Amino acid sequence: MTPLPILQGERCLLRALVPQDAPALVAHADDPAVARSLFDGFPQPYTPAAATAWATHESQSGEFGWVWAIAADGALVGCIGLRPDAGWLRCNAEIGYWIGQAHWRRGIASDAVRQVTDWAFAAVPELTRIHAPIFAANEASQAVARKCGYVREATLPQSAIKDGKVIDRVVWATYRTEVARRDADIGAALAATAASAMERT
Ligand SMILES: CC(C)(COP(=O)(O)OP(=O)(O)OC[C@H]1O[C@@H](n2cnc3c(N)ncnc32)[C@H](O)[C@@H]1OP(=O)(O)O)[C@@H](O)C(=O)NCCC(=O)NCCS
Repeated sequence: MTPLPILQGERCLLRALVPQDAPALVAHADDPAVARSLFDGFPQPYTPAAATAWATHESQSGEFGWVWAIAADGALVGCIGLRPDAGWLRCNAEIGYWIGQAHWRRGIASDAVRQVTDWAFAAVPELTRIHAPIFAANEASQAVARKCGYVREATLPQSAIKDGKVIDRVVWATYRTEVARRDADIGAALAATAASAMERT
């Protein structure tokens, strides 16, 4: 897999998680307001043990694709991941993200999604589509996707179980051609990848 780069946006820095991120993970992720919009496997309560596991090895295991800590003002405030689909679907990747409630509405998620989207199309030649399956009730995340140039593809009725209830999801997606059209600075993204690539261990 292409090494994880450090990506510097206008509002945040994206970098690999480190063990020292565990307390910040607990501070921001141990929050029902964050967890209620995430997949049912997201730990809640978000314990120090869960944070340590995520920061030390799970986030770099490959199971979740590329995973970045979202850092603002020098500290972790959230996470973003991009997981490529396998086999004949490998031109697709799923993006997922969360931000600690104390940092909402500062443009951080939009900045992070833009950085990851631009980097992915520049650095992963096979990738043509990035998708975000978002809970239908999650207006904030759909607004982030829209703001980053993603389009609403479809509703997936009754497609997930969250907290024991079956819910609808809405798929938002963006395509390599869309990114080229809005003149993404692909050269800069590639340069960032080359300059700051960090080999997985
Ligand atoms: C969704 C989430 C990532 C948004 O993060 P954020 O950093 O606050 O988002 P941004 O500041 O980049 O907001 C971008 C746009 O989204 C919209 N938006 C953000 N929060 C919103 C809210 N609570 N209600 C309605 N619209 C909202 C706004 O239009 C905003 O643009 P504006 O500030 O120019 O008006 C954050 O609320 C979160 O982590 N929620 C819990 C986990 C989650 O939902 N993750 C996504 C799973 S698919």
